[in-house]
Amino acid sequence: MQIISHIAELRTALKGRGRVVFVPTMGNLHAGHISLMQQARAHGDTIVASIFVNRLQFGPNEDFDKYPRTFQGDCDKLTAAGVDILFAPTEADLYPEPQEYVVEPPAIQNILDGEFRPGHFRGVATVVLKLFNIVQPQVALFGKKDYQQLMVIRNMTRQLALPIEIIGGETVRAEDGLALSSRNGYLSETERAEAPHLYRLLNEIRSAIQRGETDTAKLENAAISELTAAGWKTDYVAVRQQSDLSRPKAANAPLVVLAASRLGSTRLIDNIEI
Ligand code: PAF
Repeated sequence: MQIISHIAELRTALKGRGRVVFVPTMGNLHAGHISLMQQARAHGDTIVASIFVNRLQFGPNEDFDKYPRTFQGDCDKLTAAGVDILFAPTEADLYPEPQEYVVEPPAIQNILDGEFRPGHFRGVATVVLKLFNIVQPQVALFGKKDYQQLMVIRNMTRQLALPIEIIGGETVRAEDGLALSSRNGYLSETERAEAPHLYRLLNEIRSAIQRGETDTAKLENAAISELTAAGWKTDYVAVRQQSDLSRPKAANAPLVVLAASRLGSTRLIDNIEI
């Protein structure tokens, strides 16, 4: 695997490479990322992964400084997964001057995670568009665990007519159901044992809806109360339409249940499609 940090060098390395498949990450790779790398092979000739902890998508009181940086281990995993090129720019490579031109997503950036992380999706969309411009892939893969992020990126790609196919990879889970996340490493032993509770509740909401329950607010509130009783601090549990993350309107519209909640200082997100 070639490791490249400068934009010009990456452009040279990508000349004449055929179909490029891109998997952007912030590093601290787990089996969820590796599954995206493995799926990438089916979509093109050259797999490019990136590792860049993007300051723009972190709020002032978030974990940018302590976000786990595990570069050597990540390189070993990417090599084993058959990645051809790792683009690992420094901040000076990607943001040599303050990034004043940004992508401002529409109202979707202010709901759910956006309500609790103001500016987060602006930071994500801006870096992803910049990475797309640098790598110029034909296909890009993102995990469905970040469901709202995937929607923002899909919508941006479509509305700005970027010639890139966006593919969502299924969430990879630990045996007890906890969605794999780079932030799981922050959990204490007791918190780690409690963490799968979130996924169990999402499953319960799904089952209730499948049995015909239509009062989604009741289901959301019951889940929040149960989490609170178990020591969580919940930002949201929300049943939404898959198409645009709005509240359920049309009968039989495909739904998704999304949640973000904090165990101690660790904020976990998860979702489940119905
Ligand atoms: O999902 C992530 O790891 C990040 O949000 C992304 C897409 C790499 C942009 O920094």
